[in-house]
Amino acid sequence: MEHIRAPNSLELGPGMKDRHPITHHPSPITPPSHHPVTPSPAVAMRGISKRFGSVVANDRVDFEASWGEVHALVGENGAGKSTLMSILAGLYRPDSGEVEIDGAPARLRSPRDAIARGIGMVYQHFMLVEPFTVTENVVLGEQRSGVDLELGRVERELAGLSEKYGLGIDPRARIWQLSVGEQQRVEILRLLYLGARILVFDEPTAVLTPQEARSLLQTLRGMAAQGFSVVFISHKLDEVLEVADRISVLRRGEIVATTRPAETDRRTLARLMVGRELAEVVEQPASEPHEPVAQGDAVLEVRGLYALGEKGLPALRGIDLDVRTGETLGIAGVAGNGQRELAETVTGLRSVTDGSLRIDGKELTNRPAAEIARAGVAHIPEDRLATGLIGGMDLSENAILRGYARPPLCSGPFLASKAVASFTDRLIADHDVKTPGRWAKLRTLSGGNQQKLLLGRELAGEPRLIVAVHPTRGVDVGATEAIHQALRDQRARGAAILLISEDLDELLALSDRIVVLFDGRVMGAMPASGADPEEIGLLMAGIGNRESEVGTRV
Ligand SMILES: Nc1ncnc2c1ncn2[C@@H]1O[C@H](COP(=O)(O)OP(=O)(O)OP(=O)(O)O)[C@@H](O)[C@H]1O
Ligand SMILES: [Mg+2]
Repeated sequence: MEHIRAPNSLELGPGMKDRHPITHHPSPITPPSHHPVTPSPAVAMRGISKRFGSVVANDRVDFEASWGEVHALVGENGAGKSTLMSILAGLYRPDSGEVEIDGAPARLRSPRDAIARGIGMVYQHFMLVEPFTVTENVVLGEQRSGVDLELGRVERELAGLSEKYGLGIDPRARIWQLSVGEQQRVEILRLLYLGARILVFDEPTAVLTPQEARSLLQTLRGMAAQGFSVVFISHKLDEVLEVADRISVLRRGEIVATTRPAETDRRTLARLMVGRELAEVVEQPASEPHEPVAQGDAVLEVRGLYALGEKGLPALRGIDLDVRTGETLGIAGVAGNGQRELAETVTGLRSVTDGSLRIDGKELTNRPAAEIARAGVAHIPEDRLATGLIGGMDLSENAILRGYARPPLCSGPFLASKAVASFTDRLIADHDVKTPGRWAKLRTLSGGNQQKLLLGRELAGEPRLIVAVHPTRGVDVGATEAIHQALRDQRARGAAILLISEDLDELLALSDRIVVLFDGRVMGAMPASGADPEEIGLLMAGIGNRESEVGTRV
């Protein structure tokens, strides 16, 4: 059997080429500042323009990233960040402009071209095959390029890389056994194995728990210290300020500034991104007074709820909780402690193995999702493309996915197309969804704009109960503010809100009460005002005085 032929077509620039034959995964690179000659930037994109129909996604963009730096790319939803980096990763071809990699012109016509030049992109949706091992997944990708591989050797090489870069991945682990954060590290490992020296991360922390996010940021710094060039897209400005060497701001397809953390702050960045002042980003959300709203009867009553998780193991073990009209109940917890299952059982997407669910006093345990939706339950799901939206359908089809059966969107058995059109147009306008029109396919929307459409649709029906899971994930600072306000308005209108978020600031800013889930149980509950983040953190880690809470309805 022919042995692995590690990708060797990576062409690094002069100084780097000699020192780092890519077949033997390079030892730390001398930082650019110690380089004898002025080093070429790792990436230089010049005059890049890209249109999609009438949408100008990138407008004569100049962007540079150096070896040894973390370069953050920020901007509003739809500003063109993913497009720019997809051009670098060989996924899209620019209409005009040039890319140089380490000083030499690069023709990036496919992801393979890009990886051959040492460019690797970590996407939000991982392209891993679940039943396979880490090594098998890496080999799969390689086999497509017609190279014969010897598994054992790849495995050893992966183990070495994992060790060297502190990724903590066992090459023999099966993908389905790994957490989201670990799967992301498998993607990094795969790219390192393929010889990537320029790593692009598109909102990598959006899918991570705060703990995993911290560790990823350290990994990014570590890679930069080893001489890699890292491009980091994020909406979380605190992360950006912490991890980046430089920050470039894209606004409507144009780079409007490149700055350094020491020279800027959240407020300035937010202003650069949107071109106007924003209220919430400058204040401490947690200290904002929460206006009182008269709370009424329980809308959601959950009693002794049990459910199984994805792997057939118990995920909810006897949950009791109520959410009343005009109340936001925030669910805190480290991902994987039952939050997802709680949202899914309440919305009818997952069956209950014991216990009961009532909505407005009506028994709805194990009723179909459609019936629960008709009872007035809105759902902003965790994975919008898996449960909420359909990429191949246009915006108006997506806008009516949940409400099609109701007048005025239908009359008799027929959809009232005019009503559908005006409903969709209103959603687009009210929620500032960036799109050329309602006929556009959903998948052509940027991630944040998909989320805005979904949220608008779910809130349009004046729901009784809103189950909101990470409602601002992937959403820019301005839209985050708008979504927070929309949820506050819903609460003031009398909706009951079950808010699941990993962002403690968001929970504290929006909730009346906080419930901490740990290992499928309620670990503690407290009023949000004056809640101690330290105490919540301990409860999230499973440490705390559970005795007092067990059996207590919250
Ligand atoms: N394949 C496509 N077809 C049509 N339009 C597209 C396509 N990809 C992106 N666009 C449009 O290009 C613009 C820029 O999108 P892009 O995904 O680059 O934004 P982004 O800055 O990554 O936003 P977000 O923060 O929401 O992810 C958007 O208006 C988007 O709708
Ligand atoms: Mg994007």
